[in-house]
Amino acid sequence: MTAARPWPVGVEGIAYGGDYNPEQWPQEVRLEDIDLMREAGVNLVSVAIFAWATIEPREGDYDFTWLDETMDRLGEAGIKVALATATASPPPWLTRHHPEILPVTEDGTVLGQGGRQAYAVSSPLFREYAVRMTRMMAERYGDHPALALWHVDNELGCHVPHDYSDRAAAAFRAWLERRYGSIDALNEAWGTAFWSQRYDTFREILPPRAAPTYANPTQQLDFARFSSDELLTHYRALRDVLREITPQIPTTTNLMLKSDTKWMDYYSWADDLDLVANDHYLIADDPRGQIELALAADLSRGVAGGDPWILMEHSTSAVNWQPRNRAKGRGEMLRNSLAHVARGADGVMFFQWRQSRAGAEKFHSAMVPHAGRDTDIWRSTVALGRALEALAEVRGSRVLNRIAIIVDYPSWWASELDSHPTQALRYSEELLRWYTAFWDLGVGVDMVPLDADLTGYELVLAPTLYTVRDEDADRLAAAARAGAQVVITFFSGIVDENDHVRLGGYPGAFRDLLGVRTEEFCPLLEGQVLHLDDGTEADLWSEKTRLEGAEAIRSWADGPLHGRPAVTRNPVGEGAAWYVAARPSAEGLEALVAEIVAAAGVEPSAVGLHRDVEAVRRFAEDGTTYLFVLNHSDRDQVVQVSGYEMLSATDVEGAVTVHAGAAAVVRES
Ligand code: GLA
Repeated sequence: MTAARPWPVGVEGIAYGGDYNPEQWPQEVRLEDIDLMREAGVNLVSVAIFAWATIEPREGDYDFTWLDETMDRLGEAGIKVALATATASPPPWLTRHHPEILPVTEDGTVLGQGGRQAYAVSSPLFREYAVRMTRMMAERYGDHPALALWHVDNELGCHVPHDYSDRAAAAFRAWLERRYGSIDALNEAWGTAFWSQRYDTFREILPPRAAPTYANPTQQLDFARFSSDELLTHYRALRDVLREITPQIPTTTNLMLKSDTKWMDYYSWADDLDLVANDHYLIADDPRGQIELALAADLSRGVAGGDPWILMEHSTSAVNWQPRNRAKGRGEMLRNSLAHVARGADGVMFFQWRQSRAGAEKFHSAMVPHAGRDTDIWRSTVALGRALEALAEVRGSRVLNRIAIIVDYPSWWASELDSHPTQALRYSEELLRWYTAFWDLGVGVDMVPLDADLTGYELVLAPTLYTVRDEDADRLAAAARAGAQVVITFFSGIVDENDHVRLGGYPGAFRDLLGVRTEEFCPLLEGQVLHLDDGTEADLWSEKTRLEGAEAIRSWADGPLHGRPAVTRNPVGEGAAWYVAARPSAEGLEALVAEIVAAAGVEPSAVGLHRDVEAVRRFAEDGTTYLFVLNHSDRDQVVQVSGYEMLSATDVEGAVTVHAGAAAVVRES
């Protein structure tokens, strides 16, 4: 199948490589790099991401010699380049001459030079410099045969998702004027009759800087929307230069789609990315980190609208920035890589090619480790290259699921604001808990935005969909009427897009759909656990709910709400709407999800597998299917399947044994 989104020009099969920083190394090492890349089967590297100060050591004085050589050498070796705009970290001369480009935190601290990303994304002057550098790169390398893809900046918003500087304040005011048109409309939306916050003119408005107490919640929500838009605006400014000069080369930037990155509304960025690229790092102290990895991969595919995407960075082994940086175990790097491929990645790249000798990331693993070639990491790097070569034909095939989880960044931001019923509610935690229940049942899910087309989904889950517009609520109701099992969890439908409560009882926007009415939230205290009538435990949340048409599926078995409904189901048209007004334990949630999945009639990708064996299928346009089996458990697993196992190049009749820690990919017959 041809991917709907453009592909890095000239890259054959699955993309394989990593960030390549030759500016950190002498000539003899750079020469060796090319030989090693060929040995490993590398076909794409990201170059010059943090090279601004090397390329332009003083203002207007450029040195491209090393980069010219790098591009030529890579080109001659047939290795393609994702070339960066080199703008991710301004050089010291720039921040020294123009300290006004530095970002400012909520409490007024100016973030200085010496780390990276020391720029305010709203600074018009920084934008000018970044555009100028981008133009230099595009004009110099636009026709270079090695150029395959543009890599704008790097992880936009990674260290500075919010800037509270005066430049940001000015841009925020302009953004608000566009959104509201008049100060009266803003006052209404922000509810400024409260606490004497009425604004007389837009000139009085500031970002939500440190204040004596809670800042206006709608101001906070709008600032989050603005900040995500501002980062996208910066991306667009650089992308436009690249499109003008090299319309034939696709452009992307590396996103940070994972369970705990919340400040960029990546769904709203998707149309501007020619190709979706994600960076993902395993959480070292999570014994089942493969689940969060899978969530991130599904989210990447969701942002790509179901199209194939590229894993732009992950790690061969340990990272350097978690509290304790665990080295990966045997087979883990291959399993992690193939888990992304199974979920739609057509590229597997790393940070970084060669492990640095100096700098803050010298203890971060790489494809070429400090200890050199006689290492497990290097052997795994070469083996992964072979594996990806064997999987070349998988490129362009898709992942098809009948379950959708709605991920909504504004609800993520707004549900976690201060001055709420509980400060212990974490949107990402709820997302991961539900995702884990689906994982344990072996059923695949798509992570879709609130405005996604829900046609064809048998089950639609909306966890903590706190802020919704009427039309969004209507679309969920329509999905239920059309036959889907629609599942809404607590603290959903509470407010409109301005964070104003929907009156008349919770969960305002979904009361009719769910056939329930809640009169009061009763969050649980830390450590407090109640029981449901199926014998399982629940914590964090409860609410005083009564049935108004729905039936109770679970009720409270103890506590002040004893006998009241905790989980309900309301038949709607051809489908049903479920309300989960509690937070069941993992065990309780899995049983509940099993019931809902059964009602939806969705089957797992493969049956009878151990819960730590991941089975995911990709579908090619010509009808070919590829079953990826990743055995994260410590025992061998027999999987019922027939076809051709592509990693070992062997025929499979009836069953394949996937050893503990190993992986198999079967082209099914
Ligand atoms: C991010 C950055 C890289 C590097 C890695 C380390 O993904 O993009 O430059 O810092 O983290 O894990």
